[in-house]
Amino acid sequence: MTRFGLVIIAVAFYGASAEKVFPDSFKFGAAGASYQIEGAWNEDGKGPNIWDTFAHIPGKIKNNSTGDVACDSYHKYKEDVAILKDLGVKLYRFSISWSRIMPDGTPYNINQAGIDYYVNLVHELIDNGIEPVVTLYHWDLPQHLEDLGGWLNPRIADYFGDYARVVYKTLGPYVKYWITINEPSTTCNAGYGQGAHAPGKDLIGDGIYLCAQNNARAHAKAYRIYETEFKQQYGGKVTINVPIAMYYPKTTSSLDAEAAERTFEFNVGLYANAIFKSNWPQVVIDRVANRSKLEGYSFSRLPEFSQEEIEYISGTYDYFALNMYTSNIVEYADEGEISTPTIWLDQGTITSADPSWPKSASSWLNSDPPGIRHVLNKVQEKYNPSEIVITENGWSDTGELDDQKRITYYKEYMSNILDAILEDGINVTGYTLWSLLDNFEWAEGFTQRFGIIQVDFDSPSRTRTYKSSAHWYKRVIQARAIVD
Ligand code: NOJ
Repeated sequence: MTRFGLVIIAVAFYGASAEKVFPDSFKFGAAGASYQIEGAWNEDGKGPNIWDTFAHIPGKIKNNSTGDVACDSYHKYKEDVAILKDLGVKLYRFSISWSRIMPDGTPYNINQAGIDYYVNLVHELIDNGIEPVVTLYHWDLPQHLEDLGGWLNPRIADYFGDYARVVYKTLGPYVKYWITINEPSTTCNAGYGQGAHAPGKDLIGDGIYLCAQNNARAHAKAYRIYETEFKQQYGGKVTINVPIAMYYPKTTSSLDAEAAERTFEFNVGLYANAIFKSNWPQVVIDRVANRSKLEGYSFSRLPEFSQEEIEYISGTYDYFALNMYTSNIVEYADEGEISTPTIWLDQGTITSADPSWPKSASSWLNSDPPGIRHVLNKVQEKYNPSEIVITENGWSDTGELDDQKRITYYKEYMSNILDAILEDGINVTGYTLWSLLDNFEWAEGFTQRFGIIQVDFDSPSRTRTYKSSAHWYKRVIQARAIVD
């Protein structure tokens, strides 16, 4: 054999062995959520929810945009599924609009047209070889339930359970991956903490903790209902999903290391610990109790779980679902003066972004690709799940079609996910990027775009156009490897 021949063989061999491929167990997907994409806010018997109410209040959303029409996916779902099929994804994560199927959130009145919409969507997906990943609650609470106190009302767990049962009954045969509640920390921080999201409540010192507790109770209720009434028959998996940022200590000091860990517990543990371990994280219990006392309270602003509740909530997961976008640098802060109570004073840390991290169109989102590998390892170490699904990951810009920065972000993040799977042995089985479509980005309206598919919000037909990232993702899925 000539030297030339040897070189070719060596290159071919090296190329094959050096290329890291996603294992067969890994499914590529894309995600969206009801209020952000469906539109049809008052059609076919749907009842009003807190985002309908909130977005209609002038000044709440950038440019006073609303989700009244959004991507019009209520009418265009077949087109969306055709795009998913063309991309080659195997998973589509979407959420159910509670008030579309139960107009005031209670079970006495079930809206058949709403049920039909989701049944049709699920059938369309399955007929096209795509598995549905269904979120029961992605922030659009029926307005009637908010009028009863929303996530501050402990009874919400029972309402949520009744709703979950209706959905399980209808979609149970077709859905294997369930998420009860999307990002409870955002509901509580932004909806009941700072008021930037619906229902616009500014209760950062105490409402936020009541909200966290009721989210855990509601999730557990929905989990236990599936477990006792449906699991044997349908065999699906249920969990909650939590957003997790990577928190790096600013220096090597032990104070900064503790601060980073504490930030994790106040942002992730507050929503995950009771479910994936047991009770609230101890550091959160201790700090809130201590500050509450200094503030003159006779009780802790962090409510307690009864022993019975701890047992009911603990272990209510079949897999771990996380949303991961960004990282933060954390440093220790001196104990704040006693003033208006806030979760931030309870937490007692200062967070910032590394200036070298590329910035997206969203103030909170920077690119730190190794962060996702750290987060996966952290979750594995802390909660030891047997399976992890990344239910969101993505990049915002202002909507350009040639979205090279999004491609770079995905390339680097997905490459770190691949390393976590292949080198760290973490069982990541699914990835639903955020987002399939440009959509209504909550208080930011349509000013921040996350889609790999552009939606023309000025055209009545909401025309969909592939961005460069969609073409790229399609090639990644075909190759089952990161491509250029
Ligand atoms: C988390 C939320 O689940 C989703 O609704 C939102 O659009 C993305 N992050 C981006 O902010």
